[in-house]
Amino acid sequence: MPTEQNPGPAIRVQGLEKSYKQLHVLRGVDFDVARGSIFALLGSNGAGKTTVIRILSTLLRPDAGTATVNGFDVATDPLRVRESISLTGQFAAVDEILSGRENLVLVARLRHLKASGTVADDLLARFNLGDAGSRKVSTYSGGMRRRLDIAMSLIGQPEVIFLDEPTTGLDPEGRLEVWQIVQELARQGTTVLLTTQYLDEAEQLSAVTVLPVEVVTQAFSPSAHSLRGAVRVLR
Ligand SMILES: Nc1ncnc2c1ncn2[C@@H]1O[C@H](COP(=O)(O)OP(=O)(O)O)[C@@H](O)[C@H]1O
Ligand SMILES: [Mg+2]
Repeated sequence: MPTEQNPGPAIRVQGLEKSYKQLHVLRGVDFDVARGSIFALLGSNGAGKTTVIRILSTLLRPDAGTATVNGFDVATDPLRVRESISLTGQFAAVDEILSGRENLVLVARLRHLKASGTVADDLLARFNLGDAGSRKVSTYSGGMRRRLDIAMSLIGQPEVIFLDEPTTGLDPEGRLEVWQIVQELARQGTTVLLTTQYLDEAEQLSAVTVLPVEVVTQAFSPSAHSLRGAVRVLR
């Protein structure tokens, strides 16, 4: 059991396996994510990134193996896991018709926070959306939407946040904005597990685990020679 002096990793995954009928997607995935760090699951389309995220966020049961999040086992303690996390899916979940601020207030109220307006204003300022806060989200750029989406996922101060392909579909500027946010989150002690199809992104941000064996060739291509951090290839 983790203690305050020795809190253990934010995420520990051991021997995770998952098949969909005949399709063996995860074959013994192991990795640890240190608290307050950024960790990228790197893999091409269909590699199993979302499957890992769904297991870690208690939406899907693995066939074998164990996973703990914030010290809690996803199989035996799913409620405590859910209290510890937030999940931002692959497609932005913001309401287009509402303003950025209204989106944030809505989530804060759903989470029964008293000072929902203050929570919203603090997040708008922190995510550099103050000026755009009163505008409808339908007028936002892709990067602004993503920032708002991530801001919404922080309401309630989760220890661990999961971002599934947070930069897919964004232009270079939008990607940079998201990277800055992710790095800021980690600086403030939040653990971030994100997925990406882009080597340079994994390199830029974090320790990396590559899923699965098909992408090994990519990882050793010339463009990847400078890959920093711990590159681990899962089979
Ligand atoms: N519910 C499901 N039923 C059957 N196959 C699925 C299901 N979910 C995902 N898959 C398949 O499992 C593989 C991994 O999917 P996924 O985890 O979504 O990959 P990624 O997020 O890396 O693109 C893909 O081939 C996908 O088609
Ligand atoms: Mg996916």
